[in-house]
Amino acid sequence: MNATSQDAIALLKSDHQEARELFEEYEKKKDHASDEQKMDIARAVCGALLIHMEIEEKIFYPRVRQEIDDNDLMNEAEVEHEGAKELIRQLGELQPGDPMFDAKIKVLGEQIDHHVEEEEGDMFPKARKAGIDLDALGAELLAAKNKMRMEHGLPAVPA
Ligand SMILES: [Fe+2]
Ligand SMILES: [Fe+2]
Repeated sequence: MNATSQDAIALLKSDHQEARELFEEYEKKKDHASDEQKMDIARAVCGALLIHMEIEEKIFYPRVRQEIDDNDLMNEAEVEHEGAKELIRQLGELQPGDPMFDAKIKVLGEQIDHHVEEEEGDMFPKARKAGIDLDALGAELLAAKNKMRMEHGLPAVPA
């Protein structure tokens, strides 16, 4: 593990930050941007969120669930992911010119904000306290993230 590697929590938080910035960019540009520009931002944020949720569900959540005694918290997080995926699925069926497109992006952003608050404010501190090896887990998350990015034709993120 080199000094620049992120532990699991730092990696997930930087994903959250990236998504937040994309939502803000969309909000700022939506009234003057072309449909194509709107679609580009929507694709970027939805793609990043899908990969993020996948690595949480496959790697991070199961480990945390095992180590902290809070099934309610973990179940709620998974239900929130399902809600986000459903909105992303609906967005996939709409054109950016559709009157509901902006509304769905906005609500997706609000739901993600709430979800991120619970993760960063409650789940992550519990995971840190539980003594999970967050460096090893961070490396695992990064490898899975880069594998998925490659499958989507995106460049790998350096460690
Ligand atoms: Fe997250
Ligand atoms: Fe999550």
